[in-house]
Amino acid sequence: MQRSDLFQEIVRDAVALVKETAKAGRGKLTVSPEVAALLESVQPRPSVPEMAAPAPVIPALSTSEPLASGTQEELPGIDSEVKACRKCGLCETRRNTVFGVGHPAAQLVFVGEAPGADEDRQGEPFVGRAGQLLTDIIVKGMQMRREDVYICNVLKCRPPENRDPNPEEVFHCEPYLLRQLDVIKPKVICALGRVAAQTLLRTSESTTRLRGRWHNYHGIPLRVTYHPAYLLRTPSDKGKCWEDVKEILKVLRGEVTPDMSGGLTAQRLV
Ligand code: URA
Repeated sequence: MQRSDLFQEIVRDAVALVKETAKAGRGKLTVSPEVAALLESVQPRPSVPEMAAPAPVIPALSTSEPLASGTQEELPGIDSEVKACRKCGLCETRRNTVFGVGHPAAQLVFVGEAPGADEDRQGEPFVGRAGQLLTDIIVKGMQMRREDVYICNVLKCRPPENRDPNPEEVFHCEPYLLRQLDVIKPKVICALGRVAAQTLLRTSESTTRLRGRWHNYHGIPLRVTYHPAYLLRTPSDKGKCWEDVKEILKVLRGEVTPDMSGGLTAQRLV
């Protein structure tokens, strides 16, 4: 039996048991060790907290084709494939692959372009100065925990000298991202910076033109904002990033339904 079917069965049984217990007026439930272990392993999707106040957030912050559903792949399995990947030349120069970090059922996934030197060394995305700013955006701005979102890149290996990803690298690497998203099933993707946005949406439109509207990345609403590294160089644009983040929060909290009709729609490469 597939894990998903087993899970459904257990949930059905648990619901029936709860109803029965309630009807019988008993206050205690007894479950088998297998059910207890499975229920324990279920990680609820993190909720999006209401923000107490609109500021201080980022203070002066000085293809339409939906993903295949029901795939019961696990992220560690895809990570192992990435670690062994030799589909493009970046495997020759990488120190580590950089798969992604965060909650496996996150509502929000940040997608950057590719690992830099720090990330290549540590095997984790956004750990350098830009990563610290991204953490501030999540924690101070969105009032969420870094571990409750998911952070990854289009490319899982560092391009030498941090050059832009080339089409062949994207061709080989983007399917890993699609599989990650298929497992996580986020409500929203936030593309960080021009290169990530243009690569994901197959466009040469500028960040300025891509911001401010919802795009469709294989059925998932995608919002574009500035890359944290750019914001470190151009702090005057941090306010615009905050505008983007506020739109994302509205969707995460269910206050608005994203209207993707005015945006671009990603086409599959393969
Ligand atoms: N820039 C990115 O786009 N990704 C990282 O992981 C780090 C810096």
